[in-house]
Amino acid sequence: MSTNQAVLSGILESGKFTKVIQRPFPVIDDDQILVKAVAFAANPTDWKHAVYQIGHEGDIAGSDASGIVEQVGKNVKGFEVGDIVSSFMHGNFSTTRGAFSQHFIADPVTTIRYDKTQIKNTQLPVGVTPSGTVDTFEGAASVTLSLTTVAFTFADSFKVSYDKSKNANKTVLIWGGATSTGIIAIQVAKEIYGLNVIATASKKNHEFLLSLGADQVFDYNDSNVIEDVKKAANGSIAYAYDTVSSEETFQQTYDATEGSPDVILENLMNLSEDLLKLDSSRKVTFSKLLAYVADGRTHHVFGHDFVATPESLKNYNQFWNDIVPDLIKTIKTPNLKVLESGLESANEALALVYENRVSAQKVVFRP
Ligand SMILES: NC(=O)c1ccc[n+]([C@@H]2O[C@H](COP(=O)([O-])OP(=O)(O)OC[C@H]3O[C@@H](n4cnc5c(N)ncnc54)[C@H](OP(=O)(O)O)[C@@H]3O)[C@@H](O)[C@H]2O)c1
Repeated sequence: MSTNQAVLSGILESGKFTKVIQRPFPVIDDDQILVKAVAFAANPTDWKHAVYQIGHEGDIAGSDASGIVEQVGKNVKGFEVGDIVSSFMHGNFSTTRGAFSQHFIADPVTTIRYDKTQIKNTQLPVGVTPSGTVDTFEGAASVTLSLTTVAFTFADSFKVSYDKSKNANKTVLIWGGATSTGIIAIQVAKEIYGLNVIATASKKNHEFLLSLGADQVFDYNDSNVIEDVKKAANGSIAYAYDTVSSEETFQQTYDATEGSPDVILENLMNLSEDLLKLDSSRKVTFSKLLAYVADGRTHHVFGHDFVATPESLKNYNQFWNDIVPDLIKTIKTPNLKVLESGLESANEALALVYENRVSAQKVVFRP
């Protein structure tokens, strides 16, 4: 038996991100799950692996997928054949693991199991479906990488207390509130931790982000944005999350936290504080995250090895096991940009994300 997969196609030679090939049916080990794919979502990391040649031609593309469990390794607990799941994995990096495949291998620790009544098997029409709770396979595929990332940031990098009364006077600044990561982070910050949430986004997304729970949203295109954030926060920023993580946004996020006495600032692109114009009188703790480490393995990316400590995995797993099962019933997805069915759509999906043609959206498609 074989399975179809969208694999990286050597973009420099072919001009395309992915092509579709047939491969032998995937084989799981005792700690893994085999899933028949129903929907996929595209992420910036997918094109980055292709363009920056982190992955290689022939590696299975994609990091986010949902589907129905077909096989369960004998050491795996909490999953059964027939379960509806969504999963995040380090795709674009191997010929055996990746999301954009008719059948994909999932790790339990980055997989969400859904109540069967939550997910309807109705296929979303091509076009844009507005944000809503996770009730389709497309919606399920759209949130898993982001949830893993946000879980790690809040539960481990920030170590925010689960006692909401301790967070009442604390603010999280989410730079890039309309990124896929930001959309999930706003909801987690509010619903799980009860933090005051200040976000930045283009004006057209402000109403949406306020509806997700942001307390105040500022336009990052506005020349006063740093001053506006500082004034609104009034010294209360305890956590700053740069979900865009360009050198510019890293500096902006840092500058906007001025006046807050004790800040943890996390970026998602392994940026070093050496890049910043720093004020030596301030106390800011810098952290960086690579969400792939949630699977407990070592990941070699950007020329470095990344691995989570046992303590970090404990913090992440506590969130994943105790918080996600209820949170997934209420959390809202980004707006979903649905492409034509077929693994061939992986190429268009990556192109849309690469060309920055997504705004508060996740690009999704079916096999
Ligand atoms: N290290 C990790 O583990 C990890 C995990 C997840 C993501 N990431 C990285 O994090 C970044 C974001 O990923 P994503 O999937 O969440 O993003 P995304 O959904 O692709 O981001 C698109 C959004 O970025 C916003 N944006 C663009 N420039 C901005 C700026 N200067 N200030 C504020 N917002 C800006 C836009 O907001 P408007 O539409 O409002 O203009 C747009 O909606 C990517 O670089 C990704 O590779 C890393």
